Amino acid sequence: MSAITSTPIHPVLTNRRSPRSFDANAIISNDDLLAILEAARWAPSANNFQPWRFHVGVRGDEVFNSILAALVPFNQSWANRASALVLVSVVNQNEDGTTRAISGFDAGLSVSQLTFEAHSRGQVAHQMAGFDATKAAQTFDLAEAISPIVVIAIGTQGPAEQLEGVLLERENAPRQRKELTEIVLAGLPN
Ligand SMILES: Cc1cc2nc3c(=O)[nH]c(=O)nc-3n(C[C@H](O)[C@H](O)[C@H](O)COP(=O)(O)O)c2cc1C
Repeated sequence: MSAITSTPIHPVLTNRRSPRSFDANAIISNDDLLAILEAARWAPSANNFQPWRFHVGVRGDEVFNSILAALVPFNQSWANRASALVLVSVVNQNEDGTTRAISGFDAGLSVSQLTFEAHSRGQVAHQMAGFDATKAAQTFDLAEAISPIVVIAIGTQGPAEQLEGVLLERENAPRQRKELTEIVLAGLPN
């Protein structure tokens, strides 16, 4: 179901959603995966620092299984059917060792572009904060200056009916957002 918008916007944005009903048999092509990462690469960032780092696993490989193992059980229950899992980490320090607070914002822009490219190719992407970042950092032996920030499940959407209970309910629920009047504190066009 498309988002109900106050004015027309890009169809990828109205049709995008974060589903949990992944098709467990779908395989993502190398072309699609490469393009999705390339889109992430070309995001803007403060000082062009490009603090995003990615671990990419495809279903069944070691990286996929390691990322899956770091997810909370709720997320594992549906994300195991994704075609790919991507762990996004950020470089959280400047070259002089001071904290780089803007890295999370930059990584969000990068993931936004990744998500847009994925959906424009008929794939779906679902971001997750529900994972053990310490476990992921240990598993991938990340340097102290690199912090895991989010995991993304990417794949083909399957039938909602393969889900049960609260997962099925959420899958069929309409997407909802605050009104523009609530989030634009000044200057909303008439
Ligand atoms: C940073 C971030 C973390 C999220 N974490 C989870 C998560 O751990 N598990 C989950 O099922 N969904 C997670 N979501 C998905 C959100 O619940 C979803 O984007 C939101 O409800 C809006 O739905 P929509 O993306 O379909 O419009 C996360 C989304 C973002 C952006």
